[in-house]
Amino acid sequence: MAGDIVILTGAGISAESGLGTFRDAGGIWARYPLEDVATPEGFARDPALVHDFYNARRRQARAASPNPAHAALARLEASWPGRVLIVTQNIDSLHERAGTRAVRHMHGRIDRARCAGCGHRWDAPDEMHPHDACPACTAPRTRPDVVWFGEMPEHMDEIWDRLRAAALFVSIGTSGNVYPAAAFVQDAARAGAYTLELNLDPSAGAADFDETRHGPAGRIVPAWVDEMLART
Ligand code: APR
Repeated sequence: MAGDIVILTGAGISAESGLGTFRDAGGIWARYPLEDVATPEGFARDPALVHDFYNARRRQARAASPNPAHAALARLEASWPGRVLIVTQNIDSLHERAGTRAVRHMHGRIDRARCAGCGHRWDAPDEMHPHDACPACTAPRTRPDVVWFGEMPEHMDEIWDRLRAAALFVSIGTSGNVYPAAAFVQDAARAGAYTLELNLDPSAGAADFDETRHGPAGRIVPAWVDEMLART
């Protein structure tokens, strides 16, 4: 088998690195109302609360290390004869820290900051606060460079182009509840790709995949990459 691969990843791929998922029992959205911490309206109401939430997540993400699933995908990218694109819903940088180069963050990055006034982006400090000044325009309108509910995910034109060109689409560690990512399996299948789910348990869209394998990402992703590279 050859051809282009598009891999969608979600919180489940970082779970074994110690970063919490959102919708599992005791997940992030069971502990923090998402309307308060992950919407533009919540940020307008209480920016200090939202910064506190993302400051804590930035601390956790910086302290975490890539796990064998991230490392396996870096190995696949380095050795696969076609193009491999990782499209992640995660705001951590564990794919990059494992050595993967082609990563698109649909939901932004916790280690970046953005000015809501002029759009300038820069590396986030450890702690962000309301009224921090933008280093470019000095407006006190800095925010985490993440995509909130109700905002447009990033890189969508490129992602849809690559889904249309893919021979294989793989979804790893995502519950399949958030669009547009939840529809990628259908977009890719319509364009002729073979589709595979690798997840701890069946996602909301599991029935849409040609093949599903269930188990912890740290075990099933390296095993799948070994199989793929053995065929090249
Ligand atoms: N290995 C593989 N999969 C796992 C593991 C693991 N060790 N642990 C949990 N999972 C699976 C869960 O079974 C679940 O299906 O990962 C999935 C995580 O789902 P969610 O918590 O819903 O996370 P995700 O799908 O990434 O959420 C999408 O929702 O709130 C937003 O912006 C947030 O990017 C996020 C988006």
